Amino acid sequence: MKLNEHKAINLKDYRPLDFLIDRVDLDFQIMSDWTEVTAKLTVVRNPEGDPAGTELILDGEGLELISIKLNSESLPESQYEVSETGLKIRNFAGGELETVARFNPDKNTMLEGLYRSGKNLISQNEPEGFRRITYFLDRPDNMALYRVRIEGDKEQYPILLSNGNRVDQGDLGERHFVVWEDPFRKPSYLFAVVAGRFGVVSDSYQTASGRKVELEIYVDPGEEKKTFHAMESLKKAMKWDEEVYRLEYDLDLYMIVATDSFNSGAMENKGLNVFNSAYVLASPETATDRDYLGIQSVIGHEYFHNWTGNRVTCRDWFQLTLKEGLTVFRDQEFSKDMGLGGVQRIKDVVRLRAAQFPEDSGGNAHPIRPDHYIEISNFYTATVYEKGAEVIRMIRTWIGEEAYYRGIQIYFERHDGNAVTTEDFVSAMEAASGKDFSSFVNWYKHSGTPEVTVETTYIQESKKYRIELKQKSSREFAEGPKPPMFLPLKFGLIDQNGDEVETPSDLIMFQKDSEVFEFDNVPNDPTLSINRGFSAPIKLHYDQNYVELARLLSHDSDDFNRWEASNKIVKRLVKEMIEVPESKWVAPPSEVMEAWGHILSHIEKDSKNLLFWGEVLSFPMQAEL
Ligand code: BES
Ligand code: ZN
Repeated sequence: MKLNEHKAINLKDYRPLDFLIDRVDLDFQIMSDWTEVTAKLTVVRNPEGDPAGTELILDGEGLELISIKLNSESLPESQYEVSETGLKIRNFAGGELETVARFNPDKNTMLEGLYRSGKNLISQNEPEGFRRITYFLDRPDNMALYRVRIEGDKEQYPILLSNGNRVDQGDLGERHFVVWEDPFRKPSYLFAVVAGRFGVVSDSYQTASGRKVELEIYVDPGEEKKTFHAMESLKKAMKWDEEVYRLEYDLDLYMIVATDSFNSGAMENKGLNVFNSAYVLASPETATDRDYLGIQSVIGHEYFHNWTGNRVTCRDWFQLTLKEGLTVFRDQEFSKDMGLGGVQRIKDVVRLRAAQFPEDSGGNAHPIRPDHYIEISNFYTATVYEKGAEVIRMIRTWIGEEAYYRGIQIYFERHDGNAVTTEDFVSAMEAASGKDFSSFVNWYKHSGTPEVTVETTYIQESKKYRIELKQKSSREFAEGPKPPMFLPLKFGLIDQNGDEVETPSDLIMFQKDSEVFEFDNVPNDPTLSINRGFSAPIKLHYDQNYVELARLLSHDSDDFNRWEASNKIVKRLVKEMIEVPESKWVAPPSEVMEAWGHILSHIEKDSKNLLFWGEVLSFPMQAEL
């Protein structure tokens, strides 16, 4: 173990690099016992760095340095130093640096860098795998242009892939080579190389502006027939991003490689996604509905990263939610629009409550943008991903769709080709909406799930309805007081006939420790439907009786709260049954029976929404009970 291995890295210590690698020319020689990489790096001074800096410190792990040259001259040993974590060059002022380094992918069991998966070689470089391929400034704020030549045995590695466009290839007898060029700048974590024997399925997509994009899915030979759904999902994702976000794919080729040895679900390498085969292959004989939906959402997710993550990337790994939270939000909305509707929201919330809420109230609670970490690969959490997506959703709910999509446009106008921070994203939303985000940004800085208590009163004489809200954080006990969070709560009032009562707005912006919201001219005692669509990721404490819950179940225009009411009713019934002996069990209240009757008869006329009604009628998960 290295001595510094447990030292925390702090957000406040961020410094721009003194030097940038502007261009990268890589040559991979794949041999049977090792792979040799020759890297020619064009290194320039970073205008934002220290102009007096004279050291170039490159990351490098598990590499054997064979040779090193600066501006075509061998570098004297006195000018550089190799360690377990990298390569330090002194008296450096920029120039063409050439390193030759070797490693053995067969011995790489970390699934980071270039490793063997069966007969194939596959790379995984997020977050810090590229340093196992070559000596490099392996951090996302170094965005470079890549040209890559891969040479290997023709028999063993008939397919040689990397990012961008195939610009050259050649036969060398027993060996062959392919050259790839990526016209877009990218951080090293998006670099990928794949070598092996695959079957390929090809299709194409015509973009909104009329360009033709070749689509290729690489799988183990024999599995080609199982890629139909993945290919359809990819084309749907491309179209959805054009229609909803006005974002078009930017290269002429989009490749997906499926492999059995992949640590997580999938990886968004520029133009060359690598997928766990579970999220590519499906056949009607074996795949469940859930498998099909999983494929669609993961394909969408990695595709959407092409803009939210790749074209605009993270300045450092503290900003991970900038790309992951936003991209999860995008894939959730994609799945919703692909036909799942309200069911998608229910699934997202169930997942958030099951994984993120416990994380946020336990020992590993952290803000969506942490301010320190020890090991970044442990920070791909439900909080950064799922709560991060909720935060983006709240922004859209608060400022409205029009301002949100204008904010997205401003974000890309300002930052295309750059590595940025969550503040940059927020600032684009601020510019688009004219709203003040100074208290909203607490969502980025504090952990904990806000707990909101609701009390309501109806005053018959004055026809006034009062909603009194109080909030505190689930983390206050462990960490002391937190500022009140900015909570966009969608709501509605439902009268005794089940009709919506007109209110001046359908959104309460709750941003204090406690606040009262009053409504005039409310004709009779209404039922409150609050946090519709789970618009804020909170724990809600609101004692509604069976009559009110039954009214929500039968009449709420909000699918999510209808499902929530059904869940609450069942949970309460189960609780009551547990608390009394069987001989004292009584039938559920008549209002509840009527509500169930009402929806059962409704379902017959609403056959398009069976998936949703299935959720409403299904029993809460055992864990939740
Ligand atoms: N960028 C990640 C892949 C990744 C995960 C890299 C962990 C490094 C460490 C990718 O976009 C991702 O988030 N994949 C998810 C699936 C997605 C649908 C949420 C995964 O792999 O679980
Ligand atoms: Zn992702």
